[in-house]
Amino acid sequence: MSDPEKRHVPVMVEEVVNCVGSLSGVFLDCTVGEGGHTEAILGSFERCRVVGLDVDVDALELAKRRLAKYGSRVILKHASYTEAEKVLQSLAISHVDGILLDLGVSTLQLEKSERGFAFARNGPLDMRMNTDQDLTAFDIVNTWPESRIARILFEYGEEKRFSKRIARVIVANRPIVSTKELVAAISKALPYEVKRSRRRHFATKVFQAIRIAVNDELNNVRRVLEVAPNILAKSGRILVISFHSLEDRIVKQAFRSCEQLRVITRKPMLPSSEEVVRNPRSRSAKLRVAERI
Ligand SMILES: C[S@@+](CC[C@H](N)C(=O)[O-])C[C@H]1O[C@@H](n2cnc3c(N)ncnc32)[C@H](O)[C@@H]1O
Repeated sequence: MSDPEKRHVPVMVEEVVNCVGSLSGVFLDCTVGEGGHTEAILGSFERCRVVGLDVDVDALELAKRRLAKYGSRVILKHASYTEAEKVLQSLAISHVDGILLDLGVSTLQLEKSERGFAFARNGPLDMRMNTDQDLTAFDIVNTWPESRIARILFEYGEEKRFSKRIARVIVANRPIVSTKELVAAISKALPYEVKRSRRRHFATKVFQAIRIAVNDELNNVRRVLEVAPNILAKSGRILVISFHSLEDRIVKQAFRSCEQLRVITRKPMLPSSEEVVRNPRSRSAKLRVAERI
């Protein structure tokens, strides 16, 4: 059963606020979600305004309600962060003083079984963050060739040893229409000892891989990191919270190789042990920060 009242708990909020520096202009929250980080920014810096973007209309609706008390200090847009430059132009904003990307899935998305993100909840194979888009997890699982499925399991799920075997079982069991059926196919493909020995649920990697493919997540991160330095004002900071090594590697390399940026965090910042106890979802978070030269 889904619990629509369960709110997304934003991660590393204190670290984000501390790393932003002083803010008096515009802050761009590329992944506003339910507005947790934006609320902390608006509450901490009284003179700043926030432009918040998200591709998920349900999240934006919740953010709108939560942030209503800040009136014209916040502008929310249904847009991908890859379109950030265009959105800012439409608002006559040339540069922003800070940018946040909080990557990954929100609790709202995971908790709603009808969104199909969670292996622990039975629902349709969907996994779209933006429900306006055509491609769904169903399409990938039921129409992509076996070799292409194996490749995304290998690359995006880091399902190194069993990618081909899982892809073969998926294709042999088509049509697969629900998350429960997909979990059953993965279970069939993996040897019992492997399932038992894994620290996380045996379907975690496959679900991550398909979600990344549905939402083109890694390419989107690459694209926004290319554009971000151009919209960041001098001394403005960009903060990225990632949740797995594939994303973190992209962020680390993009920061290092960009001549317009100075890396502030040589090593990524991690959540405190208290935060991990309070909010287990934060355990894999890594925060990297860079400053516009
Ligand atoms: C971890 S949540 C963010 C939570 C938010 N920081 C908060 O405090 O509530 C990640 C959000 O990024 C959004 N997202 C994913 N890809 C996106 C994209 N290309 N452009 C804009 N938002 C995106 C998701 O829909 C999701 O709401």
